[in-house]
Amino acid sequence: MLFFRIGPILASVTSVAVAQSNNNATYTNPILDGVGADPWVIKDGNTYYMTYTTGTNITILKSNTLTDWNNADAALAFNPPYGFPYSTDLWAPELHKIDGKWFVIFTADPNYDSPPPEIDAFCPFNCPAVYHRMFVLEGSGSDPFTSNYTMKGELNTFDQFAIDGTYFQHATGLYHVYSCWYDSFSSWPANLCVTKMSDPWTVTSNVTERQVISAPTNPWEQTPYGRALNYRLASNEGPQQLTNPRTNQTFIIYSAARSDNRNYCLGQLELIGNDPMNPQDWRKNNDGCVFYQNPLEHAYGVGHASFTTSPDGRENWIIYHGLSTTSTGWGGRTIRAQKFGWNEDGSPSFPRPGYEH
Ligand SMILES: *[C@@H]1O[C@H](CO)[C@@H](O)[C@H](O)[C@H]1NC(C)=O
Ligand SMILES: *[C@@H]1O[C@H](CO)[C@@H](O)[C@H](O)[C@H]1NC(C)=O
Ligand SMILES: *[C@@H]1O[C@H](CO)[C@@H](O)[C@H](O)[C@H]1NC(C)=O
Ligand SMILES: *[C@@H]1O[C@H](CO)[C@@H](O)[C@H](O)[C@H]1NC(C)=O
Ligand SMILES: *[C@@H]1O[C@H](CO)[C@@H](O)[C@H](O)[C@H]1NC(C)=O
Repeated sequence: MLFFRIGPILASVTSVAVAQSNNNATYTNPILDGVGADPWVIKDGNTYYMTYTTGTNITILKSNTLTDWNNADAALAFNPPYGFPYSTDLWAPELHKIDGKWFVIFTADPNYDSPPPEIDAFCPFNCPAVYHRMFVLEGSGSDPFTSNYTMKGELNTFDQFAIDGTYFQHATGLYHVYSCWYDSFSSWPANLCVTKMSDPWTVTSNVTERQVISAPTNPWEQTPYGRALNYRLASNEGPQQLTNPRTNQTFIIYSAARSDNRNYCLGQLELIGNDPMNPQDWRKNNDGCVFYQNPLEHAYGVGHASFTTSPDGRENWIIYHGLSTTSTGWGGRTIRAQKFGWNEDGSPSFPRPGYEH
């Protein structure tokens, strides 16, 4: 393990002075200065751990405060060797504790995913992400920060596009929910797929048993800002399990539309039956995004969320990334946090995204 302070690696980034405070009644977004996308936060005991997309490695941050990560300690959990299917484009890592063991699940590809023209030609338009797959690391100890992480292997996605995979835990077992194409070369739309697992690194469903539980069929899941409606580039991605602690209702909150523009937002599925592998057991909220841009506060492209609670477990918090201008694209994303509540019907009630709280 390599430990370091988060401060120095962000030294080149101009940062506004943020009062160092444990008082979450007043804090400022972003909660980590500098760019950062696809944040994942988990609380274990009284400690928060964060990981996010660095692109080249998997770094775990550790903090006692959810709303300020600028002085967090950081550990390098995984630095991939060259020449493997997981050597480049490490995206959307998540840290999960399953049956007392720590696992990191992440997206990667072999070599900056650059399919040769003869492969690209199989796709209806082009398919620059054709080699993206899901991988799992296992931690060696009970502390996720000091654990050594070793490669457990690739998750079986039938040698097809797979990004943003997460674990879905249910009374009937463990599932892999991820962003998928319909087949090897269909390229977009990107859908949400589910497969059954026997443990955190073993998928037991075969390709015909794999189910698509959501496709970007609504206009708000398709329209990239400033372009004509483009179904080919429509996406459902970044799925996250969210359970209402009062009612036990189980949701998947996912990201919709394109991650490089202001319309990126969160959509909602609810499991209304007992079988996560049955698409009919999922009810999609087709009314629109449940969390979306707020031009009045210059908060755009908000999505790719994860969920945690306050130290006492009473408050529910969403951690997400967003853009502060309409034109910054992938490079402008920063990590933010806000408290949320619940609606009468048990679904999450997300706030409007903003900066000062
Ligand atoms: C991890 O990757 C990021 C982004 O490339 C880089 O800035 C950072 O120095 C890396 N961490 C370590 C410990 O190598
Ligand atoms: C991680 O590996 C180092 C070097 O092999 C070892 O000293 C340390 O005890 C390991 N830590 C854990 C938590 O397994
Ligand atoms: C997948 O498994 C089912 C049985 O659950 C079987 O009927 C089907 O033929 C299998 N498909 C493939 C492609 O192996
Ligand atoms: C929610 O699940 C817990 C644990 O299984 C159970 O104790 C509780 O009664 C459930 N609550 C509701 C409202 O179903
Ligand atoms: C925010 O502060 C309140 C009051 O001090 C505390 O009860 C709560 O746990 C805090 N939430 C977080 C996320 O730190």
